[in-house]
Formats: sequence, structure tokens, C-alpha cells
Amino acid sequence: MAVEKAEALAGKDVVGIDRLSAGEIQLILETADELLEVARRPIKKVPTLRGYTVVNLFMEPSTRTRFSFEVAEKRLSADTLNFSSSSSSVTKGETLFDTARNLMAMAPDFIIIRHPNSGAPHRLAEVIPASIINAGDGINEHPTQALLDAFTMRQRFDSLEGLKVVIAGDIRHSRVARSNAFLLDKMGAEVRFVAPASLLPREAEELGVSTFVRLEPALEGADVVMMLRIQLERQSKMNFPSMREYFDFFALTPERLELAAEHAVVMHPGPMNRGVEIDSVVADGAQSVILEQVTNGVAIRMAILYLLAGGRSESPSDS
Ligand code: CP
Repeated sequence: MAVEKAEALAGKDVVGIDRLSAGEIQLILETADELLEVARRPIKKVPTLRGYTVVNLFMEPSTRTRFSFEVAEKRLSADTLNFSSSSSSVTKGETLFDTARNLMAMAPDFIIIRHPNSGAPHRLAEVIPASIINAGDGINEHPTQALLDAFTMRQRFDSLEGLKVVIAGDIRHSRVARSNAFLLDKMGAEVRFVAPASLLPREAEELGVSTFVRLEPALEGADVVMMLRIQLERQSKMNFPSMREYFDFFALTPERLELAAEHAVVMHPGPMNRGVEIDSVVADGAQSVILEQVTNGVAIRMAILYLLAGGRSESPSDS
């Protein structure tokens, strides 16, 4: 990889897909391609980030994002500090900014932040000199998820240009849906949002997506079907009659999947609620790439850390 190209993201923050150009997205995807093979080595480690310190500041629950950042950091030989709000002084009333300023006093190079409030990573990025990476902020964005989703689509279809991507579920409360809509629009794919009317976002038109209140017409000819869970933790009241009825009308079943293109792949960012938005037969079926998404998440997060650190080695996977 040309060093000057790899330096395009040096020292920057990754707070949202809306702030990345198509060229920067392409660079991250290509870098992740090179880093994927590190996981196949007998010793899954390169010295690229030796001497760098990464703080993982997770103020909301996470399994995939948190562990895959941690694996990515360790595979790049960075030192890691793990922060969870339940065991920190946040429980004694310390604010996010005081927490971050105190962590900065220990000179980290990166802060990975997941926070329930939309915009928290952006505000940190304005005042904190370390590179800030958004690991999910409220209902706003989840940029590294959209990047790993795009990477997984590209593995199957080579290019994102012209792909028909259905995103179905609780779109209104989904940062994954928003980041995917931004990314797929920049890369020339067609996005179809599907949800009960009460769970469609108000800004669908601005996002450049088409909307459907039934799954069947949206699935016609789809290349990718991405299912999302209902985020009850972000809703004060249930926006549909019952989970049973939700399954009957909006779940991806084997019969409904047949409406999509024969080569269609099924995606889900996790956590899945089997029997609510997705039938287990589909989740575990031959068209599912759900666990490939998780594998690819490590390579994407390694690529982002490598590029923000300046992309200084000739190749990201140099050992
Ligand atoms: N996809 C995702 O964000 O999953 P986690 O909440 O487990 O990190």
C-alpha cells in the first residue's frame, strides 16, 4: 500500500460515516482486506501498534463491538485499558468529560467510545486530543458496524455499486441502519428500509432510501437482507401490538427469503432475537453471513486503528 495513501486518515477521528468520503471508506475496506489474513496465522499478532495505548470506554452493554475492538488492539500489539461504567467512578456522579480528561492524563492514543447519548463521541472529539472512534452513540451512528457490513457485502459481491440492500426492523432507533444508509448511498447501492410505520425514521428521504411498511415487496430481487432487532431499551412504549404479531408480519422466514434474489445473503448486526425479527432456520441457514460479519469486524477495527495511527509500515500486516 502506498504510504501517502495510507496516511489519509492519520490522526483523525472516526465518529460517523457521514464524515467519511467514499475514498476513505474504500481505503478502510482495502486495508481490512490485507489484515484479514493475520487471523489465519499461527501467531495472530503484528507489532504495528507497539507502544500505543487504547482506552475502550463502553458506557452501554456490548459483546461483539467491545470484544472485536479488544481483539483488534491485541493483534496490533497495542496496550489496552478497559473501562465499564458500572465499575467506574461514573457510578459516583463523574461526567463523561471529567472521565475522559482523567483518562487523557494517562496519555492514550485512541479512545473507543460507546455511549447512550447521540453525539457524545463528537463532543469528546472536539476537546480530547486522542483519536476518538465511535463504537455506537445512541440512535445516531455505528460507523465501524457499517464498515464491517460493507466489507462482508463486498466479499460476496465484489462491488457495492448497484446492490439492492433491504434493512428491516426497528429502523427509527437504529444507529446501524443510519450508518449503513450513509455508507451504501456514498458507495452507489440502493437501500430499502422496512418497518411498521411507527418504526420508520422521519428523515428517510434525506437519507436517500426508499421505505416500505411490508417486507414482501421490499424483498423482491434483493441482494442483501439485513435484519435488525427491536430496541425496547430506547422506546418508552411498544410501537406495535405484540412480539407475536411482529413476527407474523415482519420476521424473515424461509418462505419470505425466497422472494429475494437466489444469491441473496442474510445479515444481522446482533444481538439477534430469534423468533422475533428472524426465524432460526434463516439465521443459521446457508445464506446467513452473520458470523462472517463478526470475523470481519476484527479486520475492520484493525484497519481503522492502523490508518488512524498513520499507516506507517509498508503493509498493515507486516510482521
Ligand atoms: N453489533 C453490535 O453493536 O453488537 P454489540 O452491541 O454486541 O456490540
